Amino acid sequence: MQHLQLHENLSVSRIMHGWWRMHEWNLDTRGCLDLIHAVLDTGIDTFDHAACYGGFTNEGAFGRALAADKSLRDKMTIVSKCGISFPNDVLPDMKSKFYDNSAEHIIWSAERSVRELCCGHLDILLLHRPSPFADPAEIAAAFDNLHSRGIVRFFGVSNYMPAKLSMLQSYLAQPLVTNQIEISPLHLQPFEDGSLDFLMEKRIRPTAWSPLAGGALFDAANPQSRRVLNALLKAGEAHNEQRPDTLAYAWLLNHPSGMAAIAGSGNPERIRNAVDAVNIRFSAEEWISVYAASLGHNVP
Ligand SMILES: NC(=O)c1ccc[n+]([C@@H]2O[C@H](COP(=O)([O-])OP(=O)(O)OC[C@H]3O[C@@H](n4cnc5c(N)ncnc54)[C@H](OP(=O)(O)O)[C@@H]3O)[C@@H](O)[C@H]2O)c1
Repeated sequence: MQHLQLHENLSVSRIMHGWWRMHEWNLDTRGCLDLIHAVLDTGIDTFDHAACYGGFTNEGAFGRALAADKSLRDKMTIVSKCGISFPNDVLPDMKSKFYDNSAEHIIWSAERSVRELCCGHLDILLLHRPSPFADPAEIAAAFDNLHSRGIVRFFGVSNYMPAKLSMLQSYLAQPLVTNQIEISPLHLQPFEDGSLDFLMEKRIRPTAWSPLAGGALFDAANPQSRRVLNALLKAGEAHNEQRPDTLAYAWLLNHPSGMAAIAGSGNPERIRNAVDAVNIRFSAEEWISVYAASLGHNVP
């Protein structure tokens, strides 16, 4: 497995594993442990969480597995996110949907994530979504607090446009180590709206969420998906590779921004398919054939 050096003291596996859908996987603690072992066996060592996943319950389920096998924590890099509030069954004080970027919430959420995950500290804390009401000085104070107390090692953002990331960074003592954004062969916006160009300019590695468009890539009723799958399979011929998910991951990993991608599947075989993508090298012609297929027309 390739690793990306996000900072001199922080590396992440090029394919990460995401636990957003964990509540759909019907896993007890034994099942969680088995999946964690299957993921680690592939060489993936970076696990992506968020406080709000599973209605604020998924971190706790993962944490019960870490508590059951205390040798696991040191083998992992753990990412979590904070800042999305919505009514849910476990936190009755959350009464409405909004983005909370207050210092009080960021500190509370990171402390709760560490407790729920039974992980001692977070390797990376991301602000899950930018709040239009965010006060960057408050965010900076929260980050200083969490960093000085050893609760969070590194910080980043998710779903940020360049101006918001740049503005926030100007207030922070810590470097933002990644921007986790939606990127897939069906979602080309970050290639076109300056998001990836900005991250490349700043030498910040992007992390792609929903790299298979949440499974929509395999929707035979979607003409864009059909075009992209055909183009991926055609490009794969020269590489003796016909697994569409492997080819889609390879297409993302080949982009010069050097992004990481988060596999969202709960199926170990599909997670291994993602990992096998790291050794495939597409030519510019092959890469752009997939891009053009997604657009539905040749590049101008
Ligand atoms: N920062 C953010 O705002 C944000 C937002 C969304 C997600 N994320 C992160 O990104 C991670 C990945 O997102 P995602 O789950 O949407 O990723 P994804 O890989 O694009 O989609 C996963 C879905 O696709 C299905 N799938 C995978 N391979 C398939 C195949 N070969 N054929 C048919 N279906 C297939 C999976 O089903 P199976 O499980 O049955 O394989 C699962 O339902 C999340 O876990 C989370 O950590 C972050």
